[in-house]
Amino acid sequence: GLYTEVYRPQFHFSPAENWMNDPCGLFYHEGLYHLYFQYNPGGITWGNMSWGHATSEDLSHWEEHPVALLAEGYPGNVTEMYYTGSAVVDTNNTSGFGTNGETPIIAVYTSQYEMTQTLPSGEEVLWDQESQSIAYSLDNGKTWKTYDAGNPVIEYPPSPYRDQYENFRDPFVFWHADSEKWVLVTSLAEINRLVIWTSDNLKDWSVASEFGPVNAVGGVWECPNLFPLPVDGSETNQKWVLIVGLNPGGPPGTVGSGDQYFIGDFNGTAFIPDSDSIYSANTTSNWLDWGPDYYASSAYNGLSAKHHVQLGWMNNWQYGESIPTYPWRSAMAAPRRLSLKTIDGKTYSWKSFETGMQSVGSIGKTLDINLSFSGVKENGSNKGEFGIIVHATSNLTQQTRIGYDFEEGTMFVDRRKSGDVAFDETFPRKYFAPSRSESDGSINLRILVDWSSVEVFNGASTLTAQVFPSEDATYGHIFSTEGSTQNVSLKISEVSSIWT
Ligand code: FRU
Repeated sequence: GLYTEVYRPQFHFSPAENWMNDPCGLFYHEGLYHLYFQYNPGGITWGNMSWGHATSEDLSHWEEHPVALLAEGYPGNVTEMYYTGSAVVDTNNTSGFGTNGETPIIAVYTSQYEMTQTLPSGEEVLWDQESQSIAYSLDNGKTWKTYDAGNPVIEYPPSPYRDQYENFRDPFVFWHADSEKWVLVTSLAEINRLVIWTSDNLKDWSVASEFGPVNAVGGVWECPNLFPLPVDGSETNQKWVLIVGLNPGGPPGTVGSGDQYFIGDFNGTAFIPDSDSIYSANTTSNWLDWGPDYYASSAYNGLSAKHHVQLGWMNNWQYGESIPTYPWRSAMAAPRRLSLKTIDGKTYSWKSFETGMQSVGSIGKTLDINLSFSGVKENGSNKGEFGIIVHATSNLTQQTRIGYDFEEGTMFVDRRKSGDVAFDETFPRKYFAPSRSESDGSINLRILVDWSSVEVFNGASTLTAQVFPSEDATYGHIFSTEGSTQNVSLKISEVSSIWT
């Protein structure tokens, strides 16, 4: 029908009717993007959780299909609900579900058992238990069969956390090419801990590692995602991203749910976060989206890391069930392509910087620095020098000074105390270059610092000088020898070695 009701999203996916939450089982295969989603086939609030289904060729025009996984026993007496999960194309038929040469699609989802029961596999499960199960499709995702002979494939959390069996969910599966294994990330929601599993066949899983609790832990952890992304578009340099939903405890200023992320590496068994992705106090995080309505985001399997796309649920558990839409509730946010870009470590600014020195800490020895400031002093008294000290030892006995001489209108590098200067008597000197200000009157210095050099770029001039500081000369300071310098802004980025 025509989607013309009041509030009906016109370019975001929403189901024709009823309740929807998390995107599930996102995979791209043979020109089609599949979207499954947490769905209540019988109501406009959460319940009877099933997997709804829609497909698209372009991630913007969607066609809704019949429910793919209907809550067991629905509508009479629901005994098992199908919670959030993910899906992969089992190209090599590692699961063995493809019997006539078909390529099986495998969905891994959480079984939420609504009563104590003995399953067809013979397993006994408890009321309110959450276990991980699989289903397969032999017709490219249209129809699905649950793996009744073997479900659940992961019945309990690892033994130390067995008591968490009611809060064990949201499996995210992907193929890890380097180790030639399937990898699965699950969440122990209440204790903010992820468990990573590996498998050869998507049926038998072993525990590989754990992650958490760390960073934002204000609520349960849900819907983890783990995937690689190229860094700055590189073909060879990639980082892994781990996304974890949090409910409640989302971004500052919001109430309810939100997604956080970590950047790091994954070696096939463990995720190792970068140290600058971790905050000590468990109170803050890297937020994937800073608003109130982006949650349970999930990656598309079947796309290259370069074309990584995710969908997120554009709602919030705080008020999601009362939003004034009818006869549906919830939409997916616009698909987002994620990439990693190296951006600047630290930025500083001073409205005015007075005579003296201020430390910017141990900033390292390979740096890309942008220092800009007004080339005119407040009262027109253009006196003194302003600039940055790099390669300084903590007691400043070694230091390389780079700056601007207001009186002369020149930039300079002073390497008289830059470290080892004794090998030639002409080496320890101060060097000057003509300087030019921008049209707004500011002076911009771009400074590249390496272990034994500094290169300064300003206007039409460059000034290059070798320096030989000792290994512990990693400190930086801003200095002004006279009067206050206006509108100072400083950006310091660490440059990574090309040799690693
Ligand atoms: C997140 C979530 C998941 C769970 C699903 C149930 O929004 O709570 O943890 O699998 O919703 O619908």
